[in-house]
Amino acid sequence: MYICSMELKNDLLLRAAKGEKVERTPVWLMRQAGRILPEYRKVRASVSGFIELAQTPELAAEVTIQPVDILDVDAAIIFSDILVIPEAMGLPYEMIEKRGPRFPETIKSKADVEKLSVANVEESLSYVTKAIQITKKELNGRVPLIGFAGAPWTIFAYMVEGSGSKTFSKAKAMLYTDPELSHQLLQKITDSTIAYLKAQIAAGADLVQVFDSWAGILSHQQYKEFSIPYLKKIADAIQNVPKTVFAKDAHAAFSDLSKLDYQTIGLDWTMNPVEVRDIVGANKTLQGNLDPCVLYADKASIRKHTKKMLEEFGAGRHIANLGHGVYPDINPDHVKYFIEAVKGFSVK
Ligand code: CP3
Repeated sequence: MYICSMELKNDLLLRAAKGEKVERTPVWLMRQAGRILPEYRKVRASVSGFIELAQTPELAAEVTIQPVDILDVDAAIIFSDILVIPEAMGLPYEMIEKRGPRFPETIKSKADVEKLSVANVEESLSYVTKAIQITKKELNGRVPLIGFAGAPWTIFAYMVEGSGSKTFSKAKAMLYTDPELSHQLLQKITDSTIAYLKAQIAAGADLVQVFDSWAGILSHQQYKEFSIPYLKKIADAIQNVPKTVFAKDAHAAFSDLSKLDYQTIGLDWTMNPVEVRDIVGANKTLQGNLDPCVLYADKASIRKHTKKMLEEFGAGRHIANLGHGVYPDINPDHVKYFIEAVKGFSVK
């Protein structure tokens, strides 16, 4: 089959990421695929669960495109999960209904780390690259497609802890008790992640985002030692598309993050765009950061808070988003109010 390279009809996201002129601020939502849409739940109900859905490329493509059709966002993000990487390295995960991910086996020792392989992406993650190819074809250039991966520290946290946690104390303890082994594991995750992101780009991803969802539980010294160097390796290895890094709650990391080769830096809702701009300088694009809970409020409040957020970021070098993923019980109409407000108010 011949897939011709397509011109994008809407490339606002890519232009904003590169710091080029845009007619208005682009907007998409973290976790826009799945969760909130009844149309997603219908597809989800036709399979055994999240993992089967993510591993069925035609269905993954279908739910990736739903928010573009229904919400009119300026980008699609491929339907998958950050935890496909540990699985491809030899540590499979389960997704427990309404509770989240769980690893039946966790990493505790040097022998456990040595047993893991660097992911053979072509073999074990071809379902993601196939889903990307199908999505690109079906999008037909309407909007860019975002590929993604977890940051090495966040993936490490799940692999050692075995599930979500308030403190991730097992994972943090390993950083203190065996830094050498921790670096060995982080390096294996990094090598897997670089291969994975390259494969996503080769399949058609137009921009990639690295999610450091558990950045905020590390001390700033730990973040400097155990996250920043691996984020740097990823940024340096991936050169042909714009890159975004989102380090949730990492208030002390902006100066270090701004020195890495990511064009866009994500902000959660606790962060002040004016202060962050001061630290990172004019040559970065900022993404975010409406509090997801604003979307529980009425239309007038959503409009008011969205306008305020856009004013704080100011004209140019901004990609509008929430400060974290959209919550599952948000009314899709309220998401539409947010998207329409960005399009209506954005600083020209
Ligand atoms: O719309 C999108 O953003 C694309 C799909 C996507 C999923 N997970 C699908 C998913 C993306 C980008 C992710 C990233 C992800 N996964 C992160 C980083 C972003 C963040 O939220 O900080 C993290 C930490 C995970 C790990 C994970 N996966 C958790 C904690 C959970 C359970 C709770 C939850 O958020 O739903 C998941 C499950 C998951 N990932 C679901 C979906 C649609 C729900 C599973 C289901 O449908 O049964």
